[in-house]
Amino acid sequence: MPHDHLIEPHGGELVDLIVDSDRAAELHEASRDWPSVDLNPRQLCDLELLANGAFSPLRGFLGRADYDRVCSEMRLVDGTLWPIPITLDVPRETADELEPGTVVALRDPEGVMLAALTVTELWEPDKEAEAERVYGTTNPEHPGVAYLYDVAGPVYVGGRVEAVQLPVHYDFPELRKTPAEVRAEFIRKGWTRVVAFQTRNPMHRAHVELTMRAAKDQQANLLIHPVVGLTKPGDVDHYTRVRAYQAVMERYPQMTATLALLNLAMRMAGPREALWHAIIRKNHGATHFIVGRDHAGPGADSDGNPFYGPYDAQELYEAHEDELGVKMVDFKLMVYDPEDDRYLPVDEVPEGRKTLSISGTELRERLADGREIPEWFSYPEVVAELRRTHPPRARQGFTVFFTGLSGAGKSTIANALMVKLLQMGGRPVTLLDGDIVRKNLSSELGFSKEHRDINILRIGFVASEITKNGGVAICAPIAPYDGTRQKVRRMIEPVGGFVLVHVATPLEVCEQRDRKGLYAKARAGIIKEFTGISDPYEEPADAEVTIDTTDTSPDEAANRIILYLERLGYIGHNHP
Ligand code: ADX
Ligand code: MG
Repeated sequence: MPHDHLIEPHGGELVDLIVDSDRAAELHEASRDWPSVDLNPRQLCDLELLANGAFSPLRGFLGRADYDRVCSEMRLVDGTLWPIPITLDVPRETADELEPGTVVALRDPEGVMLAALTVTELWEPDKEAEAERVYGTTNPEHPGVAYLYDVAGPVYVGGRVEAVQLPVHYDFPELRKTPAEVRAEFIRKGWTRVVAFQTRNPMHRAHVELTMRAAKDQQANLLIHPVVGLTKPGDVDHYTRVRAYQAVMERYPQMTATLALLNLAMRMAGPREALWHAIIRKNHGATHFIVGRDHAGPGADSDGNPFYGPYDAQELYEAHEDELGVKMVDFKLMVYDPEDDRYLPVDEVPEGRKTLSISGTELRERLADGREIPEWFSYPEVVAELRRTHPPRARQGFTVFFTGLSGAGKSTIANALMVKLLQMGGRPVTLLDGDIVRKNLSSELGFSKEHRDINILRIGFVASEITKNGGVAICAPIAPYDGTRQKVRRMIEPVGGFVLVHVATPLEVCEQRDRKGLYAKARAGIIKEFTGISDPYEEPADAEVTIDTTDTSPDEAANRIILYLERLGYIGHNHP
């Protein structure tokens, strides 16, 4: 068996911030007089991993001196290697209630107190400096920087944590193992050398072969340790992934590998994050850690420049490997060699041999088009799980959002479209016409910019729920403001199709028709804030379909939209 001087089986000292039941009762009693902080999803993850010792040796949210040194040198004040600042950010109003010595109740979204925080200090961080140091960039296209700038409050609160309970998880309870539980499992199984594998993506054949190779090379067992807290926006949801991981575990030789879920909030900090991941895995009792290509990288910015080099994480890890006490198992990019039907690192590919790979983007496209996903790339059981939550476009929901002046013909076309879609069948259809919505959802609202925006965002919310659940939402409000329409688009596109239809009938024609007599009243000043007369209409520049009803019948208009939907693939064969 290979000998590694630097590894220490089962980790080293583990912090446990969970108090006993007497102390918990005391804290509950006292908490009635304390201010509260309601934790957001990322803070909940951080608190859980602080409490259960995954972030050992941390005992709370960093104070200022530790924060400064972590940002600049990746070390706590006492010299311990720690690459990512674990801070509690709050809004200024909350900070105004706090001072050193205050005890704060940290609560989950339902108001349950999870922990008491004894404040040692409060300060306003220089977020740009933090971004530059921790992420190596101030570009808000980096998801860690975006969080720092747009979500994190302006004040950080440092202090020790006493946890009264861990956050409760109702999903996959048997797989949510604390560091102590994972260590105990290794001891029970007699595992002394364990390679941990971090992932935020579904595991395909490349990942299974990579991990098996790591285990064989190191003569070690495997801890498959996927992140189920927060990952990169747009990733496959963790429910789908965990079902797929469970299926894939059957592919490993018996009694060699185990699966545990880690409720980590990733920062996508690349090299620094790789070190952090290793420390966390050491705390779980692992002795080895896999770092492949572009570990915890957020990809590239909008100019196509990657935020980190593909092997930067391996380099930084190597420089700190002895100190980390977890051996790095590094891999170059794994590619498929069809000739020998196996995966291997690019640097081991024989000269002149052609290799294959499928990118994440191509995989998503294949799923959306309902195309085949080859067996060399993934396993049928993994693909089946992905297909359940990522059906082809012909079975996804979509929203058709009409915008245009009053009397432009939105409602008429929307009705024609609805009837045609109902005739085709296959999806439930909901019509959110301007007048229907004003009556049922927004009866208290007027026509100021503020009220119009609230109304449109409500429509967008309902439409996004319908779309997410595979239905069709047809919306037909005036929606005069471009920014608000774009917000609605951004709510819906992640969950299904979004088609903006500009009913661009000119004002003169609408006014001449004046089907409801509203234009006459608006001209007479009887109706105020009337779009096109006494209120603005911002023409969309992003409409997928533009229709002028001066010379287009409702039937033709609805047909044009249907042909567009067909071209995108939302209307097609309805077979799985
Ligand atoms: S990460 O954000 O958690 O790093 P991902 O789940 O895709 O993303 O990767 C998990 C680990 O597997 C990382 O160490 C990554 O570098 C490695 N990895 C993923 N795919 C490959 C591949 N094709 N070749 C080499 N390493 C890979
Ligand atoms: Mg109407």
